[in-house]
Amino acid sequence: MSTKPLHLESRCIHGGQRPDPTTGAVMPPIYTSSTFIQESPGVHKGFEYSRSHNVTRFAFERCIANLESTGLSESDDRTQGGFAFASGLAATATCLELLDAGSTILCMDDVYGGTNRLLQRVRSRTQGLKVVFTDMSDANALARTASECKPRMIWAETPTNPTLKIVDIDAVARVGRAVGAITVVDNTFASPILQRPLERDIDIVMHSATKYIGGHSDVVGGCLVTSRKELAEKLRFMQNAIGSVMGPFDAYLTLRGAKTLAIRIRRHCESAMRIAQWLEAQPSVERVVYPGLASHPQHALATRQMQLNGAPAYGGMITIFLRGGIKESRRFLENVHLFALAESLGGVESLIEHPAIMTHASVPDAQRAALGISDSLVRLSVGIEDADDLIADLAHALER
Ligand SMILES: Cc1ncc(COP(=O)(O)O)c(C=O)c1O
Repeated sequence: MSTKPLHLESRCIHGGQRPDPTTGAVMPPIYTSSTFIQESPGVHKGFEYSRSHNVTRFAFERCIANLESTGLSESDDRTQGGFAFASGLAATATCLELLDAGSTILCMDDVYGGTNRLLQRVRSRTQGLKVVFTDMSDANALARTASECKPRMIWAETPTNPTLKIVDIDAVARVGRAVGAITVVDNTFASPILQRPLERDIDIVMHSATKYIGGHSDVVGGCLVTSRKELAEKLRFMQNAIGSVMGPFDAYLTLRGAKTLAIRIRRHCESAMRIAQWLEAQPSVERVVYPGLASHPQHALATRQMQLNGAPAYGGMITIFLRGGIKESRRFLENVHLFALAESLGGVESLIEHPAIMTHASVPDAQRAALGISDSLVRLSVGIEDADDLIADLAHALER
């Protein structure tokens, strides 16, 4: 077999995978056993208890480690720096445990509402975290705020949810090094197919695997991935000590989803670009935010940072501002049929939602207003249906 590194499409299918050693099964079986026999106390086959070691979970963890290019071998870390959790928020919560009580965390101002809630309403009370928000799409503001507040961790998300701002990943890594902070990028919206922050010197990548990686809206999961051996050791300890692990059935489904991640992402990107361009020409749409449009304020950065096999590609998420207010938004959202009005994103089916009332209701009102998450903002997750059918659905709802 050639020793040439595999392309991402191939890594989705083969990355970190091997046939089951006992039967030769091509797909890892779902190992449900909670415990494993020991020949003598402490003498076993490397598996003791399923929270700590699970074959099916390990297979998914090696897959995501490979896709995010950790570069670690199994002798560096058993799952090559990939760790899977019961949800994206469980992954985030475990990651925050790397911080000592009273630490400062510098966070992107526009992040998933649940991340904001966990930081402001839970960890600032229980862990004494000092949470400083800044608009990291301005690299100078990021550097200035970091040198002022001396964070122990920098938490970025790009593209952001829901305003699709782009954060310069190189700048986050540089600033993190300069101030000695652990850098984390929530890579949920781009997926490892479009950007791999560890290749840009970021310390930890976080995913809601519920979204593109699972890809079929039938599983909730999360992961953390690192290429730093010492951080992998700490995360392995935390994953086991805290215990919010991904179960074997979910690991099986998520691994199954990951096999088609690259071809799905290609289709999401192509359709979203067409739909964004079409939306820009609609009189009832005041503004379209999509990193692939020349009108996006950070189009050049997105073009540099988000690529599929060397060609720019901008993901499947579109944000629009409708003309009018809540009445017009409600009417539009009640009249789409192919787009499902539902939270979440990244599935094969198209989803649409109203962040101010739905996914971002937990963001404090003043912060939501400052971020521009208004009543006229609608978020679309473009699925892999025929793009003409999706456009017809939106056209019908906009006419109402
Ligand atoms: C960008 C982003 N990060 C994290 C999460 C949290 O993930 P989960 O819902 O799997 O806990 C979400 C969920 O919507 C998200 O969109």
